[in-house]
Amino acid sequence: MATPTAPRRIWLTGATSGIGEALAKRLLHDGHRVALTARRRDALEALAAPFENALVVPADVTDHASVRAAGAQIEAIFGGLDLALLNAGTCEYLDARHFDVDLIERVLATNLHGTLYAVEAALPLLRLARDGHRRPQLAAVSSASAYFPLPRAEAYGASKAAISYFLASLRLDLAAEGIDVSIIHPGFVRTPLTERNDFPMPMRVEVDEAVDAILRGLEKRALDIHFPRRFTWLVKLAGILPPVLRHRLGRRLTRNADTEGSS
Ligand SMILES: NC(=O)c1ccc[n+]([C@@H]2O[C@H](COP(=O)([O-])OP(=O)(O)OC[C@H]3O[C@@H](n4cnc5c(N)ncnc54)[C@H](OP(=O)(O)O)[C@@H]3O)[C@@H](O)[C@H]2O)c1
Repeated sequence: MATPTAPRRIWLTGATSGIGEALAKRLLHDGHRVALTARRRDALEALAAPFENALVVPADVTDHASVRAAGAQIEAIFGGLDLALLNAGTCEYLDARHFDVDLIERVLATNLHGTLYAVEAALPLLRLARDGHRRPQLAAVSSASAYFPLPRAEAYGASKAAISYFLASLRLDLAAEGIDVSIIHPGFVRTPLTERNDFPMPMRVEVDEAVDAILRGLEKRALDIHFPRRFTWLVKLAGILPPVLRHRLGRRLTRNADTEGSS
């Protein structure tokens, strides 16, 4: 699916792998000016090489100063942003028998704080892009796990639930400023991140399907971009069950091997 709007100035984080890399290629191919952020400069440069409309802006989203510098570089070259697409993220699973606060902090640092730093850097640039015709857009990648608590996902799920709440709240406050906010809730997508998973991933989709769904949702300025719908509707439904039923369902998804030996 082509991205249908006029060329836009876009900041995409997490552009070197998985969903972000596929989004980057599609957006660049469709002629948008895309500032590409991730930690690995070499991978960003290789991605950008075939495209004149790519801007390489390496940054570690857990490093506040690095993200601010990225924002300043984008402002100097683009002069504003029509879309900030905050996708950088990581996943680590907790073993509650060996409670590991460092692991939780690592995941929160990338997924939550990294998103917050990027929002801080992006907002002034989105404000610069308001021209009375087009509303700038802010979007961030949460996860379907934000809808329903899953075993071992204490860190990842909490980081994504926090992003979803944060953006839903921010959306209320930015509406009056003419900035639209979309929250992206993917189910399982085949990427290097999910290739590491050692459990069944029902209805996992290929990355091109994810890119189509995200671009379609952004085009419609959907508040909640979730896919694949055959999966995410089930998860949403599970998420509104009474707590006791939600707990029973969650317990069925908990592997005995992960809880054996807990006191
Ligand atoms: N795949 C799924 O099934 C799925 C489902 C729900 C939600 N999501 C979310 O979708 C997003 C993309 O996931 P993916 O599956 O495409 O993962 P991925 O293949 O592991 O890609 C993650 C991207 O984030 C970047 N990144 C990680 N830590 C970073 C940091 N500290 N600073 C800057 N960039 C950083 C990585 O680049 P560098 O290593 O070069 O920094 C990479 O480009 C994530 O937010 C993930 O939580 C994925």
